[in-house]
Amino acid sequence: MNILEIIEKKRDKKELSDEEIRYFVKGYTCGEIADYQASALIMAIFINGMTDKELTMLTIEMANSGDILDLSKIGGIIVDKHSTGGVGDKVSIILLPLVSSLGVKVAKMSGRGLGFTGGTVDKLASIPNFNTEITEEEFIKNVQDINISMISQTRNLAPADKKMYALRDSISCVESIPLIASSIMSKKIASGADKIVLEVTYGRGAFMKNIDDAKELAEQMVRIGKLADKETTFILTDMNNPLGYTVGNSLEIKEAVRFLRGECISKRLEHVVLELGASMIKLAGLGDDLEENKKKMMENIKNGKGYNKFIQMVKRQNGDISYIENLEKFETTKFTYNLTSNRDGIIKQLKADVIAKFVCELGAGRIKKEDKIDSAVGIEFYKEVGDYIKLGENLATIYSNTVLSKNSLLNFYDSSVII
Ligand code: URA
Repeated sequence: MNILEIIEKKRDKKELSDEEIRYFVKGYTCGEIADYQASALIMAIFINGMTDKELTMLTIEMANSGDILDLSKIGGIIVDKHSTGGVGDKVSIILLPLVSSLGVKVAKMSGRGLGFTGGTVDKLASIPNFNTEITEEEFIKNVQDINISMISQTRNLAPADKKMYALRDSISCVESIPLIASSIMSKKIASGADKIVLEVTYGRGAFMKNIDDAKELAEQMVRIGKLADKETTFILTDMNNPLGYTVGNSLEIKEAVRFLRGECISKRLEHVVLELGASMIKLAGLGDDLEENKKKMMENIKNGKGYNKFIQMVKRQNGDISYIENLEKFETTKFTYNLTSNRDGIIKQLKADVIAKFVCELGAGRIKKEDKIDSAVGIEFYKEVGDYIKLGENLATIYSNTVLSKNSLLNFYDSSVII
């Protein structure tokens, strides 16, 4: 077998065998296959696609290229949740303690964010002393003891995907639904999940710009999951507007805490949390009736069990819970700016991509991997899409550690808000 024959076969729209796919993934990961040859094959896949059988093999081989987390010691069914990315996305921080309080075992490894705003781990790291880098033994012990742990991804998961993703990025081959599907699913399989719940986002603030592509991606991942024996379900989320009221790391933690306490619940965020949670509970074998599962989640917000689980997790990972109990303790920024509505009307759009870039420039996200994040900066909205606002009413507060000119605030308002 050699790589030239494999490239030729895919170029000529033929199906690759399991051995050929394994040969490629292994050879490319260890450097025996050159970038230019891998580029040719990836471009041929981009153009000619792959069958579900080929894609599943590619996914499994990418997962097997590095560490595979063994969560079997925890016992029971481990259901993982994955989002293809959003703006103001604090879903995991609310959802996972909530389903954990209902018996779902949560062993969550998340990556740090790159571009736009911070990832879940960056948000959790804004809680003083919260340790996202505990050992794997501690991680597993936490799930055994308190049913939840959320940490940063430290192991070498799916290195073949890392290499292939960088290559795809350099040859304009990122926007391929089959390649995105196998890339995401390889990391989920490597992270030890038995079953997977996906949130596939679409719109201005998402990878997929329209709902049809998002659905195709979701269905492709479900098919890979089925063939790889990892039951997978999905929901589709509109990411034209931010999710919830805040964008920015500690602001999102505060919103998540208020949500868990039942004090402030964005309608859109509630919908996403309940849909994903109902599926997680079902996949974990703890209730087949999705509507009933949603009711149980709302009950655990009312009776404080979801909030208490979050506190328990923060305490267990050394976080200072006095900040959670008294949200005023979180450090705030040197400057705040209010944005007021310039008319009466219904808010039609708060453009997620524009807001994300603005907040990233304030310091909430990373442009390069090494960049430091400013936890306190961001934006807090007082209304969401669909709400009515009056002329002169406060729409949002911007938290910044740099001085912002009147002009830049006006530009931001004009380019992000449609009333
Ligand atoms: N996210 C991934 O993990 N992989 C892709 O290919 C695209 C988005």
